[in-house]
Amino acid sequence: LRSALRRREAASWMSSRGFASASGQQRKVAILGAAGGIGQPLSLLMKLNPMVSHLSLYDIAGTPGVAADVSHINTRSEVKGYAGEDQLGAALEGSDMVIIPAGVPRKPGMTRDDLFKINAGIVKSLCEAISKYCPNALVNMISNPVNSTVPIAAEIFKIKGVYDPRRLFGVTTLDVVRAKTFYAGKANANVADVNVPVIGGHAGITILPLFSLATPSANLSAEEITALTKRTQDGGTEVVEAKAGKGSATLSMAYAGAIFADACLKGLNGIPDVVECSFVQSTVTELPFFASKVRLGKNGVEEVLGLGHMTDFEKQGLEALKPELKSSIEKGIAFVHDN
Ligand code: NAD
Ligand code: LMR
Repeated sequence: LRSALRRREAASWMSSRGFASASGQQRKVAILGAAGGIGQPLSLLMKLNPMVSHLSLYDIAGTPGVAADVSHINTRSEVKGYAGEDQLGAALEGSDMVIIPAGVPRKPGMTRDDLFKINAGIVKSLCEAISKYCPNALVNMISNPVNSTVPIAAEIFKIKGVYDPRRLFGVTTLDVVRAKTFYAGKANANVADVNVPVIGGHAGITILPLFSLATPSANLSAEEITALTKRTQDGGTEVVEAKAGKGSATLSMAYAGAIFADACLKGLNGIPDVVECSFVQSTVTELPFFASKVRLGKNGVEEVLGLGHMTDFEKQGLEALKPELKSSIEKGIAFVHDN
């Protein structure tokens, strides 16, 4: 009886955090950068996901320890750690989903684009390996600058002849998580009931929360909406400054990454009507990649949803973000062809 109660407690702990119920399907998930600030708590959260049968933790170093630690948790998945480039193939082989938080984080005073120099090369080589060892996997890109790293991944997959736009995602869930939290505070709503679409990209003004479409609706003033929008756009910088040189968001990002991965796994497993915002190949605007709501299914993106009705303030935000987003996308594409 006691163990049945404990199982029920664990199940309700997970479902209260939005994880799906257990599934018998075999799903291998690889995390690249698993020993890092995001990688470690994300590994923990993916170990708690009952849809994962195999959890593969890869980094250039440090993963045997993380894997040994996480593997003692009494949940379904079998955990293996892989360290160093010669183990990357084994880490990736057979993966249904690859989550990439590998790369350097910001320090105060830096933009996400300042990370391009180092992270572009890291993402390029990891995507080359994905093309070789698990070309059909869903790829959830966390490494910044997401507005450029997603186009880099797409170009690599095209060159390798394995590109399927339905399977490549820029993870923008943290923007949604922040928008929900900040909105709930101002709207006096129960945060668990709040939904806010966030569109555009993942840097500064390219992050555009659509508070006019937030639910439950609230009568917020124009000043309140402007302040909420700015706080969502600057959420990453708020954390970078508070950490004062010790990196950027890791714990909230791991939470957001786990929520998005859970949604992707639900889609893969055929659970209907799974919708999340993500930065994907898109025709919603004239830009080739754009974040908006997407419906997830057995092959990844099933449908990229439109933007819905926007206020003049949001329409202005959309027009204002396009030049920066366009140039970040082009920078990513050019990097692949120049290197
Ligand atoms: P971190 O430095 O703590 O960890 C990064 C990890 O990547 C390290 O363990 C490092 O060894 C590993 N790594 C480096 N090169 C690698 C390679 N070639 N292969 C595999 N692993 C490699 O950094 P962090 O705080 O975890 O952040 C990681 C990235 O995520 C940064 O680029 C950061 O800007 C980004 N980020 C994105 C979001 C988002 O919303 N998309 C949110 C937060 C952070
Ligand atoms: C975030 O939004 O927290 C991340 O993109 C990290 C950063 O550099 O702000």
